[in-house]
Amino acid sequence: TLIRREDYQAPAFWIRTVDLTFDLDPAKTLVTARMQVERNTAVAHSALRLHGEELNLLRVLINGESVSFRQEGHELIIDNAPDADFALELRNTCAPEKNTTLSGLYTSGGSFFTQCEAEGFRRITYFLDRPDVMAIYTVTLRADKSKYPVLLSNGNLLESGDLEEAGNKARHFAKWHDPFPKPSYLFALVAGDLVAREQRVKTRAGKEHLLQVYVRRGDLEKTEHAMNSLIASMVWDEARFKLPLDLDRFMVVGVSDFNMGAMENKGLNIFNTSALLASPATATDQDFSRIESIVAHEYFHNWTGNRVTCRDWFQLSLKEGLTVFRDQEFSMDMAGSPSARAVCRIADVRQLRAAQFPEDSGAMAHPVRPDSYSEINNFYTATVYDKGSEVVRMYQTLVGRAGFEKGMSLYFERHDGQAVTCDDFAQAIADANPGSALSVRLDAFKRWYSQAGTPRVQARGVYDAAAQTYTLTLTQHNPATPGQDQKLPQVIPVALGLLSQEGQVLPLQLQGATEVLNEQVLVLEEAQQSYVFIHVTSEPVPSLLRGFSAPVVLDDGLSDAQLLVLLQHDVDAFNRWEAGQRLALNRILGAVRSGTPLQLDAAYLDAVRKVLRHPELDAAFKEITLTLPGETYIAEQLDVVDPQAIHAAVEAAQVQMAAALRDDWTAAFEANQIKTGYTPDPVSSGRRALANLALAMLVLDARSTGDTVWPGRAYQRFKDAGNMTERLGALSALVAAHADLAEPALARFHELFKDDALVIDKWFALQGRTPELAGEKSGRTFARVRQLMQHPDFTLKNPNRARSLIFSLCMFNPAAFHRADAAGYVFWAEQVLALDAINPQVASRLARVMDRWNVLAEPYRSAALLAIRRVSAKPDLSPDVREIISRALASA
Ligand code: ARG
Ligand code: ZN
Repeated sequence: TLIRREDYQAPAFWIRTVDLTFDLDPAKTLVTARMQVERNTAVAHSALRLHGEELNLLRVLINGESVSFRQEGHELIIDNAPDADFALELRNTCAPEKNTTLSGLYTSGGSFFTQCEAEGFRRITYFLDRPDVMAIYTVTLRADKSKYPVLLSNGNLLESGDLEEAGNKARHFAKWHDPFPKPSYLFALVAGDLVAREQRVKTRAGKEHLLQVYVRRGDLEKTEHAMNSLIASMVWDEARFKLPLDLDRFMVVGVSDFNMGAMENKGLNIFNTSALLASPATATDQDFSRIESIVAHEYFHNWTGNRVTCRDWFQLSLKEGLTVFRDQEFSMDMAGSPSARAVCRIADVRQLRAAQFPEDSGAMAHPVRPDSYSEINNFYTATVYDKGSEVVRMYQTLVGRAGFEKGMSLYFERHDGQAVTCDDFAQAIADANPGSALSVRLDAFKRWYSQAGTPRVQARGVYDAAAQTYTLTLTQHNPATPGQDQKLPQVIPVALGLLSQEGQVLPLQLQGATEVLNEQVLVLEEAQQSYVFIHVTSEPVPSLLRGFSAPVVLDDGLSDAQLLVLLQHDVDAFNRWEAGQRLALNRILGAVRSGTPLQLDAAYLDAVRKVLRHPELDAAFKEITLTLPGETYIAEQLDVVDPQAIHAAVEAAQVQMAAALRDDWTAAFEANQIKTGYTPDPVSSGRRALANLALAMLVLDARSTGDTVWPGRAYQRFKDAGNMTERLGALSALVAAHADLAEPALARFHELFKDDALVIDKWFALQGRTPELAGEKSGRTFARVRQLMQHPDFTLKNPNRARSLIFSLCMFNPAAFHRADAAGYVFWAEQVLALDAINPQVASRLARVMDRWNVLAEPYRSAALLAIRRVSAKPDLSPDVREIISRALASA
């Protein structure tokens, strides 16, 4: 059934308080819920309808008396609920150990955990499981004391102790109280044999708080980075947005079986261990930075999500887009130097282009605020999160940083304790900044919430040497997406600067304006607008969309010569990087479109050599600039996609860059060895990243030249590495380009880390992501993945493990997946069905791999369609997978 945004109705009842008691047992947990309920007199009189799934109902009492009720589908209906406020008491059981969906209450490694967002609470007890029903929770947990010594829930601990049950002293209890009203999706409990790292910290006001990070025994030394990230997040949110921690105690808990990264339950954040645990020996620099940003993300939700929550799930981006924006700003501030900030921004944009742009042009295209869904779990998407964050960033661009902070203050002043909409947020930012570039066109700006698809912006400039004017014409086009044929122009902030042909900054003065600037933000709001700059003393090179000031595809029509000027001289590091990417992209697309082998020219190779040799550029920036555009992003530029042709061009580019820059790679590798101890700071991790790229290039080059020195050095580095970043870098260089040394290295790696699940995930992922060799028909990676599916360590039940192998192949390795013999698609269909029987959320994410089947070249397109039909033919698909598959079929 399709749920529509326009059908929203306020609930017929409010639940003001909930008192929950859990008698925890893996096979059968007893839940007692006592609630204070009242009618919402603002809406029509109707029955009380509570949500419940996979529950066994034992008793329903109203004001202590039994009452007649009905059960229909997933609803418990009480037709004759009183008009006056009443007490509702329910009893039910559920079966945590049988719950493989990891939604609701489940067990993992012998402990109990919950995941309630979006609609998991209804798998624990019957409830008005919707975010606009906010209640105060008191929770009592009762369990076996030896198996579950730690009992946690939201808020503050009221009391705990042993239970004296008929002389049986083996059980104990804990009673928790959360003083803040919250929607059910923020409820959580944890019970198990866990240990905690603790730290006491003070907020600016001098209030002391207890921070705890709970993990399994043995993992405590891997929690230092998470704790540091948590403390840094607290400090940052107070400094930047004046938002302090509001609870005495803030707990973070790690769990190995988890559907996503982490969850912001009030005062009790639950994390996938992959987003929490790190040590230099077992986690890469990327893991360290991902942990920092996810810890911050969940912490920031305490205000943006929990104190102010969503009225309904269509408003999901209200909390997710805003919180991603906040965690991205935090990571940039943590990074420090302007260059390190730019590298953060580049990484975020690369992610947006790799995941959100394809989403916006595929079967699942939807607005940041979707209009309908059948399964809300399918809408925790790159659009809602990452495009949503770009939308928030545009507010900040339009009202300025200080204006945005004022807007945030007004948002909390107005809406603290409420469940609100994206409109409420927009209004608060605008009202706090009257007369701003946002406020004067707020309605048009809000099209970012309602129109799906990535706007295309074309920019063309004309220089008049005699008049010394430069006329820039910007044209926008908003392509049709499923269900949205006609679109209105969007409000697009375009940050720009002008450079001379020699790379000097040219001052900007708009005709009619008095101020002269080095950089300016134009606000494009019509289908086409022209801007005239005066006193332009020489023909300029425009640097447009600096810092990626709007989530659009820009066609600036720049020549190679102009891009080379930007790559060498632009003061905007983002656009400098972008120019390099465009130079590479033009060459790769040229080869793919013409069907001729790629041949890199001297001009390009000289330009990248200059970057690599540059005395001032950071290693991190060099690495990100010398990394070629991803194959998915390249595919986005084409109307008809042949994944093999793209891969062949990319591989050729790599081989040629490896050979042409051999001496420079050697120098870069040597210059970026770090002899001191490991720290994951941006400078050191940038140097390790560049050294790893150089090593990969040198080993790749050795495959062509027959050189044995670099493969040997890579093996040595793999063996002796003092940290996981270098070890995995060396291993991946060997796995990609030196099969003979890769085998013993992989075996050794497995032996070393066989007891560390998160590292074994890396071992599977690396093999699933190994690039196929262009032109080699058999497909070494595909064969390897098939074989690894039988490995004793492989299981579909653990989402991290399933993703490590299957998603690596199907999602991140296009050339291994899209095979002319369709074997990749057959494999995909099998795995979607197998996963769907266990965990629909994970299955449905895998199903999305086929979002863009319709743009594939033959024979891939027809074969993909057959595989999609095969999945569709299964009658009892989960609603999750059914929605994805139906949308894919509808996009034919
Ligand atoms: N709110 C969580 C986070 O972004 C993610 C929850 C995802 N839930 C889901 N059912 N997919 O921080
Ligand atoms: Zn979030």
